[in-house]
Amino acid sequence: MEISKESFSTIVSKATLVQIITITLTYLSPFLIAYFTGGFWIKEKTFTEQAEVKFQYRFIALLEGETNTYISSSYESINQIYSNEYRPSVRTITELDTNEDGINDLLELSIFISGIPIDTITNIKLILLFNSTLSAYSKLKLESLAYLESYNAKKSSELNFDGEIQFVQREKLREKITYNGYSYQLLNESNIDLEALNLDKIMRDYNSREYSTRLITDFVSWKNTLAEGFRINAHIRYAPFTISYVPAFWEQFKWGWIQYICSLIPFIYVFKRIKIFIFENQLVPTISMNITQKLKSS
Ligand SMILES: *[C@@H]1O[C@H](CO)[C@@H](O)[C@H](O)[C@H]1NC(C)=O
Ligand SMILES: *[C@@H]1O[C@H](CO)[C@@H](O)[C@H](O)[C@H]1NC(C)=O
Ligand SMILES: *[C@@H]1O[C@H](CO)[C@@H](O)[C@H](O)[C@H]1NC(C)=O
Repeated sequence: MEISKESFSTIVSKATLVQIITITLTYLSPFLIAYFTGGFWIKEKTFTEQAEVKFQYRFIALLEGETNTYISSSYESINQIYSNEYRPSVRTITELDTNEDGINDLLELSIFISGIPIDTITNIKLILLFNSTLSAYSKLKLESLAYLESYNAKKSSELNFDGEIQFVQREKLREKITYNGYSYQLLNESNIDLEALNLDKIMRDYNSREYSTRLITDFVSWKNTLAEGFRINAHIRYAPFTISYVPAFWEQFKWGWIQYICSLIPFIYVFKRIKIFIFENQLVPTISMNITQKLKSS
């Protein structure tokens, strides 16, 4: 084929342009797909960890009847402030490792509060305090709280409940950060005033923390078994916490890279076909050479 220098260069540049465009589209398309399908970057992942939960042996129980309210707690100062309502209690506390993984996962708690006339109690508020520690991804130590409120129209003398402590987070955890500042005591034993004893305020302060725990009750039953006093029996499981976190750079990069390669492969194939089609059908002028063969060998 006879071609002038000028037309040779336009032919070359047109063919080159096709090459450049198809290559660009091939490698860019995965990014477009990623853009319209939420991106390569994983913003959040979850994992579960059996947190180390420890009952602090601290509790506050408020027992409300039609006319009287009784209080019993592990805090000397609270019992003193409410000396008229205070009733002494006997506690039996066992923390068990039922699946034998070295971390306790069950609390069996029995609180017997004496000095309460039989059959008077209809409402119970109970606060139990724990320390929970996470250490797998980041270090997080928190004073965690389990709150139960239960009402029963029929006057009773015993409350049984089963529940589970679950992790609540408003912020995602970040890798290898030690989170301090969540282990402060909700109630300062040596400095309890009446205002600090406002349960509504305690609960609101607690629930607005970035990280906290919540008691989910599965089962509550009221009974009428005792001749005197009131008994609370609890089975509380320390279930593995489900934690959501922001993946660190290399974890994100690894998944991003895999996704990029996987979406790139079909585009390589498709654009190669398109390029062959364009050149084979002479949609752009090309110099006489066997393009099919050239592309296949490239
Ligand atoms: C709970 O944590 C507090 C504050 O870090 C600590 O003073 C206390 O001894 C811990 N209690 C238990 C039972 O681990
Ligand atoms: C508890 O209160 C006492 C007395 O006000 C104070 O000295 C102490 O630092 C407080 N403890 C905590 C953990 O806030
Ligand atoms: C290009 O090469 C292929 C495979 O070798 C052959 O079948 C075809 O005839 C060739 N085309 C031209 C235009 O030379």
